[in-house]
Parts: sequence; structure tokens; C-alpha cells
Amino acid sequence: MAGRRRILAVVGARPNIVKMAPIYHAFKRHGLPLEIVHTGQHYDYRMSGVFFRQLKIPASVVNLAVGSGSHAWQTAEIMRRFEPVVAERRPSLILVVGDVNSTVACALVAAKMGIRLAHVEAGLRSFDRSMPEEVNRVTDVLADDLFVTEPAGVRNLKKEGVPPERIHLVGDVLADALRLYGKVIRRSEILRDLSKGHSRTGFPAYCVLTLHRPANVDDPRTLRRIMRAVQRIAETVPVIFPVHPRTQQRLQSVSTAQGRGGESRLHFTAPLGYIDFIGVLSGAKLLLTDSGGAQQEAFILGVPCLTLRDTTERPLTLVGGMNRLLGSDEKLIVHEALTILSGQRIATRRDYWYVDGHAADRIAGILCSSRCRGGT
Ligand code: UD1
Repeated sequence: MAGRRRILAVVGARPNIVKMAPIYHAFKRHGLPLEIVHTGQHYDYRMSGVFFRQLKIPASVVNLAVGSGSHAWQTAEIMRRFEPVVAERRPSLILVVGDVNSTVACALVAAKMGIRLAHVEAGLRSFDRSMPEEVNRVTDVLADDLFVTEPAGVRNLKKEGVPPERIHLVGDVLADALRLYGKVIRRSEILRDLSKGHSRTGFPAYCVLTLHRPANVDDPRTLRRIMRAVQRIAETVPVIFPVHPRTQQRLQSVSTAQGRGGESRLHFTAPLGYIDFIGVLSGAKLLLTDSGGAQQEAFILGVPCLTLRDTTERPLTLVGGMNRLLGSDEKLIVHEALTILSGQRIATRRDYWYVDGHAADRIAGILCSSRCRGGT
């Protein structure tokens, strides 16, 4: 009986923590008892701990400390470690977010143990099976409550035969996080810190780069091609590059400007916490990225984005030319970036309610009313 009204919420990788923060705070407001389980997929302080601290969510109730490994090993190990936690706590609902290995691993445990499963960011599809995240989206087959960020997600789920009563278009919790932490983000001093020693005027105009997809960083030829394009762009404006650990390992094997001294305007930094990353992104003229979440954040902030992939699971970002898909074509990346930076192409963002910053409240409201009907 003790666990009957318990909700376990799972985080594993950096983007999960950002998405979970507004959910945690909204659930608290709605009186829903949310307990956070961290799988330990990301374990560095800069990839995990700093997010808990900055976003003011309590350190996880349980840390499964799974660490790194191959995809199958990591997914299986999370399942193995999560099962006894579920058996002991007997939650009435397990809530997972996004599309990382931790998401699908815990979704499988929920389904196998007959626990109701809610998936936040359901329905997104890149239709590219070579991406591990697309495989992980099988989570939607298992989920009972599917919370969707944009209309394309609803269409995808309906086509896949998900019963309409399970699908809830609630908007994007990434917009909630931007709204919730907006004041703190505006106080970030990261730009001043980063420009120290580089320029007396700071960064009047700059780009931000993030890169971590296996397809871009695991093949040295692709990574070299992208980095050559970035070097060319950095001849025009400074490029700030917070380097993901996966990319850091790979960059060592390709020749880059890192270590060339004060000449280059390509500024490598360690991974940034949420507040500083958004602080940097909001002032940027352009984002170059292969991250799904960063594409969306740029869209919401009105920062033009060039995506170094052939597909996106977030078609809304493409509307009005806010985001363009360029793959890893060196010439195209340079051409498109310089066109945007020269002001020759203006991107326009329409306002959509999906990014109004109230998605987590809608999720809490739907779960509250289904609990009242005896659903959880
Ligand atoms: C994972 C997610 C991806 C998400 C990304 C955000 C999957 C399949 N991928 O990719 O969807 O966009 O997180 O960052 O779940 N490492 C560290 N410290 C850490 C974590 C990782 O050094 O705290 C290193 C490890 O050497 C590891 C590598 O980074 O092998 C990759 O980490 P992993 O979690 O496997 O995948 P990501 O590339 O981070």
C-alpha cells in the first residue's frame, strides 16, 4: 500500500535533467509526489551534478551509477539495476523523458513489471534508424501516457497506431526551463569570462558550436571536415565550442586549432552547465549543432540554427528558415553560416503555444485528473 501513490521519474543523461527540472517543480506545485532516479549514464559533475545544483532539483533519490559502456551493455545494466528499485518502491507511475538509453531501459522495466508508464517528448521521429536515439524511441510502443511537444509527434504516433486517448499534445518542457530560469540565465557572466584574454571588446558577434553525435564525431574524416568548416567560420566571427566528453576524446585524433595559441577565434571550453550554455546561446548570431535539444532551444530563443545532420526529429524548428539541415558538407556549412552572419538571410520565428513554457503544468494537470479518476 505504501507505494501506491508514488511516481518514479528517471534521468540519465544531461538533457534529461534539463527536461525533468520544470516537471519536478510543476509536479510539486500540483502536489504530485515525484521521486527522481538517476541511472548514472552521465556521471561527470559537468554533465550531471551541476545541472541538479543550478536547476534546484534535489540530488536523485537513487543513483544507479551505471557509467559508460556499449549501448547494449548500458541499456541492459540500467534495466538490471532499475528493476530492484521498482520492486522495492512499487511506484504507481514511472515517468521517462527524451530518447536516451536510460529512457528505453527504464521504459522496458516499467512495461515488464506492469507499471504505468508516461513518456515526455513522445512521438518525435528522425526516421533515421542509424541514430541510437531513434531506436530508443521504441519507448512510445510501451507508454500509457504519451506527452507530445509538437503536432508532427501526434501525427507520427497516430500513424503508428497509438490509441488517440493516450496521446496528449502538451508542448515542450524545454521552453518551460527557459522560462523558469530566464532571470538567472540573464545574470550569467560566462561571456565575460570566456572573452577574457581574447578581446578587449568581448564578443560583439559570435557563433556557438556543439557536436557529439556518433555519426559526426566517431569518423575522423567527418569530424575533420566539420572542423575545417568551423575554422573557416571562425575567421569571420569567434566560435564558442563547449566540448562534450565524447567529442573531446575524438578531437585528440584530428588536427584542430586547439593549442595553436592566441590566433584562432575558435574558443574551446569544457562542457557548460545549463545556465551558462543558454547564457551563451541566447546572445549568439548563429548555432551550429547536431543536438536535438539545442536546435529546439535556439528555435525558442530566436537564434538561427544550422544543423549538422541530414534529419531532424523536430520539424517545427525548420519553419521560417530558423533551422536548416546541412549534414557534414564542408562547403555548404561555410556558405550557409556566412550568409546568415552577413545578414543576407533573415530567419523568422512564428509564435506557437507549444513553446509557451507551460508544458509541465499541462502534464501535471492531466496526470492529476487521471489519478482522480483512479488511473494511477
Ligand atoms: C547521450 C545520449 C544522447 C544525448 C547526449 C547528451 C544515448 C544513446 N545518447 O549521448 O542522446 O544527446 O547523451 O549529452 O543515450 N562521458 C564522460 N562523462 C560523462 C558521460 C559520458 O566522460 O558524464 C563519455 C564517456 O566516455 C562515454 C561518452 O562520453 O563513453 C559518451 O557518453 P554516452 O552517455 O554513452 O553518450 P552521449 O554521446 O553522451
